[in-house]
Amino acid sequence: MSSSFGAAQGAIEVRAGAPLRGEVAIAGAKNSVLKLMAACLLADGEHTIARVPDITDVEIMGELMTAIGVGVRRDGDRLSLTVSADVTTEAPYELVERMRASILVLGPLLARHGFARVAMPGGDDFGPRPIDMHLSGLSALGATFTMKGGNVEARADQLVGAELILDYPSVGATENVIMAAVLARGRTVVENAAREPEIGDLARFLNDMGAQISGAGTDRVTITGVTQLRPSQRAFATMPDRVEAATFLAAVGMAGGEVMLRGARADQMAMLVRKLGDMGMDIDASEDGIVAHAAERLRAADMSTLPYPGLATDYKPALMTLLATAEGTGIVTENIFTGRFRYVDELRRMGADIRTEAHHALVRGVERLSGAPVRAHDIRAGAALVVAGLGATGTTTVADAHHIDRGYENFVAKLASVGANVART
Ligand code: EPU
Repeated sequence: MSSSFGAAQGAIEVRAGAPLRGEVAIAGAKNSVLKLMAACLLADGEHTIARVPDITDVEIMGELMTAIGVGVRRDGDRLSLTVSADVTTEAPYELVERMRASILVLGPLLARHGFARVAMPGGDDFGPRPIDMHLSGLSALGATFTMKGGNVEARADQLVGAELILDYPSVGATENVIMAAVLARGRTVVENAAREPEIGDLARFLNDMGAQISGAGTDRVTITGVTQLRPSQRAFATMPDRVEAATFLAAVGMAGGEVMLRGARADQMAMLVRKLGDMGMDIDASEDGIVAHAAERLRAADMSTLPYPGLATDYKPALMTLLATAEGTGIVTENIFTGRFRYVDELRRMGADIRTEAHHALVRGVERLSGAPVRAHDIRAGAALVVAGLGATGTTTVADAHHIDRGYENFVAKLASVGANVART
């Protein structure tokens, strides 16, 4: 698979400039397409996914699919995955370590082949990220697990539908259980399921393949097992990336101006739209996307991250950046990944006044940030630092920009196209 980024590393240099104006097209959602790719393992034949973002995480998932024995081909924004019965039921450590979402092949491989060996993902910059709920959900369907040499080995001759309640609405655990249950015997009911829109996308894709899933997007998902799936008859268009859209909304909030986010769906980010409205932005949904407008300094607001439909943890770095220069003080509470405040040190280097205490942050808005060399520690934090640079004096240089490439297609070019003073170095 080829990509325009390849192994590009480097930094992004950004300076404040004129207000942003124009239009950006929002790409397909990273956190949907990675699961759609994993779901292809459930049926032999050629699958086509459309609106696939050109980002490193898709490349890594492509490498994982290739390692498993799937033929992967990209043609523009379309991805074809050719699956045959002859696959290796294994996800090696080198790939799982690079991308945690690799764990999503566990459910499909197990359901289709009765066995899977997947390396255990480690922790990351957000803190520990266990997979216990993935395993207990799959156990409820009859899978057994052994840990060996850093791998989870999963077995099940025939998965059997069951009623289960997740301890917490984990996105990944909900998806792994749904993908396993589609080929289980009988009916599975997942209670306390995650309600993120990406789960609805996965269910629509699987239903196109012949699965019988209802209730996806609610906290109770019902799956009636079928004996076999086949590739969807049409190219399935991935839903728009809500986090990319949120990042561009924050860019407008920081730099001012008016930008149309073509393809973005306000109904899938209602809580964010409300928060940004409270902070003084005008955000209008239209049939074609979202139009965002910011004219003056934003006002502070308090916010807490929560599972959907609450405010997504992935929006938080960009929101913290806006609070850093908003008028007043905002309290931000992180309820999903308790370790997700690491980039705060970078914002402080730019003059932000932020105090953290456990999973809370107190952000006192300053008039202006000051440009500085900073470092991206993860995808969202990296993008948020670029946004911070749009409202800072002088030059901000965001090192380790390859983190941003993992989840944002042409980030620099898209920002530049609406007038931002930004360049890759
Ligand atoms: N958790 C457990 N045990 C489990 C699974 C999760 O304790 O078995 C905990 C996690 O440690 C975390 C919480 O539950 O504290 C939520 O995790 P969840 O499983 O919901 O998240 P995920 O599936 O690992 C996805 C996105 C993340 C996004 C979260 C929350 C993908 C590939 N990743 O992760 O996106 O932050 O949901 O919405 O879909 C990103 O795109 O930058 C990103 C990190």
